[in-house]
Amino acid sequence: MSDLAAVILAAGEGTRLKSATPKVLHRLGGRPMLEWVLRAARAAGAGRQVVVLGHAAEKVRAILPAGVSTVLQAKQLGTGHALRTARPALAGFNGSVLVLCGDAPLITAATLRRLVRTHRRLRASATVLTACLADPFGYGRVLRNAGQGPWVRRIAEEKDATPDERRLTEVNSGAYCFQASWLWRALQRLDNRNRKGEFYLTDVLEVLNRAGRRVAAFRTGEAAEILGVNTRCDLASAAAVMNERKLAAVQAAGVTVWDPASTWIDPDVRIGRDTELLPGTRLSGRTALGTGNRIGPAADVCDTVTATNVSIRHSVVEGSRLGKGVRVGPYAHLRPGTRVADKVTIGNFAEINRSRIGTGVKVGHVSYLGDATVGPDANIGAGTITANYDGRRKHPTRVGARAFIGSQSVLIAPCTVGAGALTGAGAVVKAGTRIPAGTVAVGVPARIIKRRIVPSDQSVRRKP
Ligand code: UD1
Ligand code: CA
Repeated sequence: MSDLAAVILAAGEGTRLKSATPKVLHRLGGRPMLEWVLRAARAAGAGRQVVVLGHAAEKVRAILPAGVSTVLQAKQLGTGHALRTARPALAGFNGSVLVLCGDAPLITAATLRRLVRTHRRLRASATVLTACLADPFGYGRVLRNAGQGPWVRRIAEEKDATPDERRLTEVNSGAYCFQASWLWRALQRLDNRNRKGEFYLTDVLEVLNRAGRRVAAFRTGEAAEILGVNTRCDLASAAAVMNERKLAAVQAAGVTVWDPASTWIDPDVRIGRDTELLPGTRLSGRTALGTGNRIGPAADVCDTVTATNVSIRHSVVEGSRLGKGVRVGPYAHLRPGTRVADKVTIGNFAEINRSRIGTGVKVGHVSYLGDATVGPDANIGAGTITANYDGRRKHPTRVGARAFIGSQSVLIAPCTVGAGALTGAGAVVKAGTRIPAGTVAVGVPARIIKRRIVPSDQSVRRKP
């Protein structure tokens, strides 16, 4: 059992966001901000994690991973009161307690580890994580003891601070490390005689000082890490910091980014070496790109895995897998469940949904393939439509290897076009039909008129 626990305060509504969504569920990097705090706490070694819920508790609870315990702060009477409600969840625990704010998503495990190490080295009862900010407005100011050293007297909240105190630039991050038994004792003694009429967690420091305990500060140089999200502007700033970190990491790992300012990459995305990201690229979710890809301009790629040398420009690709050398775009939409084999070309207003596309296939122009399986080297003519939905159910379409689908063909599912078969321009293949391999079918509805004569093997063979 680890001797480090974490309590994350997440009961507040976040009135300043003016939102129907509780504050800690607002997203950045594609995930709710609370999730980033939980990840940092876990990575810092917090064996037990307790989240204080309150406003919209059930919504927040729904995103918590297994193993995280929760307590309910029915009325939000302040951060000190919030922490007090967590006590039963840590009954019998007597190690160090990290206290974190659910609305400060940029905190890193490395900084939390240093906080805990400092706390233990100083044998403090409380250690507050601080930073110096050029604009400290809105944060609690840290009042240190006279003289050198890490010792802190108390914290003055923005609303309660004197003008002199407000001029201090060292602020409370809202993250602390406490020695458990002294924390619970001090929390008993809080009052709410302040401008907000709340039980301030910050007052615990003064209570501990009065009891003769050691109260310290650990100041981080990484000021961006402590950014608390109270407004939509803060949310945008925090998201930008998270993105900058990710950009720096992928560049360090061998990825070219043409225009960092217009490139957005979620933290969990992986990118291979020598991949280039062109302006206006957004990579999100569990996307993993291979080496030597060229993505963008204007590419929105979500939950997608690519092999090497894939190119995607001016397109939306979701929940898909793309093989080597695949070219997507301009203006294609690949929807979830699409599997594209090597050397496929898809572009110019093609939409592909839940389909398997074989090696070397070309879907060049204004086509829709849904619930389709297309064999290797088939050619999908301009304007081909799989009519996969009969108003009640979706049905599959099969197109065999080297088949040639004429322009404006409509394939009404379920139907099959056999290997090497050809449909004439404007053919309508009726539901339940099977066009035999190597035949030519034309008309409405499509009828077989002859065997297909392929002039030479060359014409249907894939380019090397
Ligand atoms: C708090 C600190 C301030 C610090 C700042 C850092 C206090 C009194 N002030 O101010 O010194 O500089 O964080 O960002 O602690 N919460 C509850 N229950 C409540 C009230 C709040 O769970 O009754 C949660 C909120 O959901 C939030 C966190 O505690 O995640 C901080 O609360 P917030 O009201 O945002 O405090 P700040 O005014 O930012
Ligand atoms: Ca806050």
